Amino acid sequence: KTVTLSVIKADIGGFVGHSGVHPELLEKAKGILSGSPLLIDFHVTHVGDDINLILTHELGRNNGEIHQLAWDTFVACTEVAKKLKLYGAGQDLLGDAFSGNIKGLGPGVAEIEVVERKSEPVIVLMADKTEPGAWNLPLYRIFADPFNTIGLVIDPNMHGGFNFEVRDLIAHKKIIFSAPEDIYDMLVFIGAPGRYAIKRVFHKANGQIAASSSTQRLNLMAGRYVGKDDPVCIIRCQSGFPAVGEVLEAFARPHLVSGWMRGSHSGPLMPVSVTNSCPTRFDGPPRVVALGFQLAQGKLIGPQDMFDDPAFDRARALCNEIADYMRSLGPFEPHRLPLDEMEYTTMPLVMSKLKDRFIDLRLSKTKS
Ligand code: 13P
Ligand code: 13P
Ligand code: MG
Ligand code: MG
Ligand code: MG
Repeated sequence: KTVTLSVIKADIGGFVGHSGVHPELLEKAKGILSGSPLLIDFHVTHVGDDINLILTHELGRNNGEIHQLAWDTFVACTEVAKKLKLYGAGQDLLGDAFSGNIKGLGPGVAEIEVVERKSEPVIVLMADKTEPGAWNLPLYRIFADPFNTIGLVIDPNMHGGFNFEVRDLIAHKKIIFSAPEDIYDMLVFIGAPGRYAIKRVFHKANGQIAASSSTQRLNLMAGRYVGKDDPVCIIRCQSGFPAVGEVLEAFARPHLVSGWMRGSHSGPLMPVSVTNSCPTRFDGPPRVVALGFQLAQGKLIGPQDMFDDPAFDRARALCNEIADYMRSLGPFEPHRLPLDEMEYTTMPLVMSKLKDRFIDLRLSKTKS
């Protein structure tokens, strides 16, 4: 018998601005999910202004009823958000109506279907003010870098390595890379996280799912600015998979991600507790929360708020230093994202205003 863990998230209204989620929305979501006969268990939480529904059930991945339940929950929460006039009420609900699968409608989804092992520790990673490619560097560290994950070297059950499924988010293609043999090829792609994102990781020897992430790109779906697609990721731990501490270690040296203010800036990803997950400085810096659970017959034993640990104080301090430096660049790249990566831009407007003042140097060459 298999158990499916589905993590489905959406920003359906910020409190205040883009910083957090109003408690009434979380209560509404809990109320709806607790009435559902489909679920074995659930946990409702948030990171910044994103609501995360962590669900267990027996219906498998991409199940229409589960996705419908999540959609209906977000729609009901949107009603509350509208009543409270929260910021961007319904922001991530792009479709007008649900039609069988929540993918492509706005919310982010990560799901794994497993036969529970004797002990099944999982970490649910959830980020705000960034994009799916933000997981590329930590997933590489966790599943392919022996300087992060000693298990790749000394655990016979991990020594064979992992397969990485990488998605091209623009051309809608996927490819499987095998680590360690293919890492130089793979890094050409995953080093460009705005376009290529690691969707899933598999244990190479036994083929089991090791990690799964959300790879929606809201701004591509909508064709206009709707907020960057703050991503989630599920990782299985221990006994052939990375130890819990090897997963968390990947966040000890913060990396730069795209997102932050107006989805248009580069900044450090700060590991924080749920309580400290509301980004306020320049709407950031971007945040990541890690919730640990033990699955037991589908019950979510937990959560344990993993970054609520003084051992990550130095990572947070470094994020603050990096944030000071990046902010000092103001509207200049690489703090501000390149033109094609920004979520909104005045360039066409300014360009059309100034078009008569631009002098074409190819035409004026003879005169000057
Ligand atoms: P304990 O001895 O605390 O169980 O830890 C074992 C371990 O492998 C930690 O990574
Ligand atoms: P969210 O994607 O978290 O809604 O943030 C959008 C934004 O513009 C922050 O400044
Ligand atoms: Mg928002
Ligand atoms: Mg958000
Ligand atoms: Mg965002």
